[in-house]
Parts: sequence; structure tokens; C-alpha cells
Amino acid sequence: MDGIDIETAVDPIALFIAWMTAAEASELNDASAVALATATRDGMPNVRMVLMKRVDQRGFCFYTNAESQKGVELAQNPRAAMCFHWKSLRRQVRISGGVSELSDEEADDYFASRSRLSQLGAAASQQSRALAGRELLEAQVEELERAFPEKIPRPPYWRGYLLRPERIEFWTNRDGRLHDRFLFSTSGDGWRKERLYP
Ligand SMILES: Cc1cc2nc3c(=O)[nH]c(=O)nc-3n(C[C@H](O)[C@H](O)[C@H](O)COP(=O)(O)O)c2cc1C
Repeated sequence: MDGIDIETAVDPIALFIAWMTAAEASELNDASAVALATATRDGMPNVRMVLMKRVDQRGFCFYTNAESQKGVELAQNPRAAMCFHWKSLRRQVRISGGVSELSDEEADDYFASRSRLSQLGAAASQQSRALAGRELLEAQVEELERAFPEKIPRPPYWRGYLLRPERIEFWTNRDGRLHDRFLFSTSGDGWRKERLYP
């Protein structure tokens, strides 16, 4: 289906990219949508969807508001887990590891690549805080439109994050619930691979 055999794969990032490419061709929309779990300092988990915008050997990137609930949790406890589920392919990938912030330059580049409408939305939203009424948000967008008729500056709290994988598990559906699971894990010294019971 996608050129890399899960049985013989040795590079989980290459396998992930092959699966993502297949998902982009087969999912109805948002193949890069992923559940992102963070936790408070005392261990209460929280999960929500984000878009995974780039993957390479460093890890998995996403962008958000550093003052949102997830941003605050990542500042207190810089570890996270992701779970992709591609229904059309009956596949799941789970990833976990430490999280670091991307540089200002990377956040600037990504912000600049977004549509003006998305930039306005991101700049106007005090993500995760209480909003007294929708008209307030709309008024803030209008105010920003007037203040910045040309380029919208990236708000300093709009940041990029990198999840540096320590574990990546690939799950694929097989008949009779005898699914295949392969776990790749690392402590920074190359990847170990093992098969798990389904
Ligand atoms: C498919 C999908 C993709 C999303 N992508 C993002 C994203 O890339 N960044 C983001 O901040 N919120 C994204 N959201 C909204 C988040 O799920 C969430 O509502 C918001 O970030 C606030 O989360 P928090 O209060 O846990 O910080 C997305 C929602 C959906 C349904």
C-alpha cells in the first residue's frame, strides 16, 4: 500500500511518513489531525485535537497558543503524547516523549504561511479563556484588521512546539482481532523495535 513493510521497517520516522502519505490520499480530510495529550503538574491528563504540521527526524511539530490550557500544561510539564487514527486505513500511531518550543523564526515562518483570516483568528483569540460573547471576539478581529491593514504580526504567545519521540507505536488492523503492533523506543541511541500482543 505504501512502500515500507511494517515487518522489516527499521526507521519509525520513515514508516510514519509513508503512513501519513497514504492517509493524505485516503482520508476525507485533515489526515494530519492528531489527539494531543498533556497533563498538569500533578498528573491530570487533558486531550484535544491539533494539526501536526511537520515531521522529520527531530520529531513532530504543532502550533498553538502558549497561554492556552495545553500551553500552560506544557510549560509546567513538558511531556506529551499523540495518537493518530486513520479510519480509512484502519491504522493507529501513538507517540510520546518530551516537548520543546520551536524557535521564534520557525513560529514566524509558519504564522506568515497562514491565510490572513487564520492569522486574525489566532491573534484575536485568547485561547481557552472565558469569552463573554461572540460579538466581543468579532469586534477584536475587526480592531486587528484596522490596526494591521497589511501584515499581521505573530503574537508572541503563538508558538510552535516539537514533540521529540521516545516511543512510537504502529498498529494496523488484521483479521480476527489479531492486529499487528510494533513499538519503536529510544533513549537517544538509535531505535529498538519489538512486536507487541494486540
Ligand atoms: C481537527 C482539529 C484541529 C485542530 N488544530 C488545532 C491546532 O493546530 N492548534 C490549536 O491550537 N488548536 C487546534 N484545534 C483546537 C483544539 O482542539 C482546542 O480546542 C484548542 O487548542 C484549545 O485547547 P486547550 O484548551 O486544551 O489548550 C483543532 C481542533 C480540531 C477539531
